[in-house]
Amino acid sequence: MSEEGIEKFVRPDLKSFGGYAASKAPETLKGKVSVSVEEIIKLDANENPYGCSPKVKKAISDYTGIHVYPDSGQQELRRCLQDYTGVPMEHIVASAGSDQLIDLLMRLFVSKGDEVINCIPTFAMFQFFINLAEGTTVNVQRDENFMVDVEALKKAITPRTKLILLATPNNPTGTIMPKKDILEVLDIGLPTLVDEAYFEFTGETMAPLVGRYKNLMVLRTFSKWAGLAGLRIGYGMFPVEIANYLLRIKEPYCVNVIAQLAAIESVKDKDYLMEKVKIISSERDNLFGLLKQTGWLKPFPSKANFILCAVLKGRARDVQQKLEEMGILVRYFDTPLLKDSLRISVGKPEENKLLVQALNKIGEAL
Ligand SMILES: Cc1ncc(COP(=O)(O)O)c(C=O)c1O
Repeated sequence: MSEEGIEKFVRPDLKSFGGYAASKAPETLKGKVSVSVEEIIKLDANENPYGCSPKVKKAISDYTGIHVYPDSGQQELRRCLQDYTGVPMEHIVASAGSDQLIDLLMRLFVSKGDEVINCIPTFAMFQFFINLAEGTTVNVQRDENFMVDVEALKKAITPRTKLILLATPNNPTGTIMPKKDILEVLDIGLPTLVDEAYFEFTGETMAPLVGRYKNLMVLRTFSKWAGLAGLRIGYGMFPVEIANYLLRIKEPYCVNVIAQLAAIESVKDKDYLMEKVKIISSERDNLFGLLKQTGWLKPFPSKANFILCAVLKGRARDVQQKLEEMGILVRYFDTPLLKDSLRISVGKPEENKLLVQALNKIGEAL
C-alpha cells in the first residue's frame, strides 16, 4: 500500500495537528553551536539546574528491580505523596509527568466539541491536549498584568463547558492567581484544574481544599523543584470519585519503577531540595534586576523558576538564535499575545552571569 493509501485511515482532525514545539535536547546541537554539548547552558525548559537529590542517584544505582512491573495502584508512592502534601492518598494519582494527567483529564471529561476554558497566554500543552481530545478551546484572555479575568471567564461559560484550566504560577508569565479568584472560579461548580507545577517556588496551594470542593483538582510535578524532568513523574489531587476514574483509565504502569523510587527519595530529601529552590528563587530576583538593567528587555515579575521578558529592541527570535549560537538556550514566543518575548529559566549563579554577559553583548549590537 502506498503512503497516501494508508494516510486516508488517519483521523481527519489529526492531519493538521501541529504538535508541540518542545525544548531542544543539547545533544542535537552538537557542532551547531560555539561550545561543546557539555558546556551548553540550558535555560529553555524550566528544569532544575542543580539536578536531583544525591539520595535519588544513590537509590537508582542500588536498585535491582527493573525487571518487575511497577505497582499499578501506586500504593507506596501515593502514601509518600500523602505525607508530603497532607492530602489523603485516596485523592492522589501519579503519572508519567503531570502532562499525562492533563491528557487523562481531557479523556475523562471532554468529548468531541465539548468546551474547555483556557486562560491565555498559558502553558501550551493545555491547548495540545484539548486538540488531541477534539475539544473546543474557549480562550479567555488574561489582562495586561497576565492575571486571569474572572468576569470574562464566567461570561465564557456555556452549557458545553466541561473543564476550566488554571495554572498558578502560570507558565510562561510567572503570575500567581490569588486564592480568592480561584475560589470564585470554583464556585461556578465546573471541573477546575489548578496546575501548581511550580508550587514549591511559592508555597501557595489549593491542596488543603481538595475533597472539600467536589470540582477542585490540583496538579503537581517533580520536574521542577525535584530535578526529575527526564524521569517523567507528576501527580494530582482530586475528589475521590475522580481519582478512582483516573486510576481506572490510566495506563496501568504509567509511572515506572525508577521514577517512583526517585519521587519517594526526593520527598525524603526535601530539605536538601528546598534549599536549592530557595537559591533559585533568590537568583530569580537577582536576574530580574539584571535583565531590567539591560534597558532593552522588560522582565515581568515571576513567582516561578523562570522570567518572561518582552524584547523592546530587535526581535526575540534573533536574540534567541544568537544566544543559542553562544551555547545558551532560552525560549522565545512571537504569538499575538506574546509578541517578541523570551522566557528564561533561572540557572545557577554562574550560568545567569554568562547569560547576562551574552545579552549585554547582543544588546551592544542592537
Ligand atoms: C504549568 C505547567 N504544567 C505542567 C507542566 C508539565 O510538567 P511535567 O514535566 O510534569 O509533565 C509544565 C512544564 O513545563 C508546566 O509549566
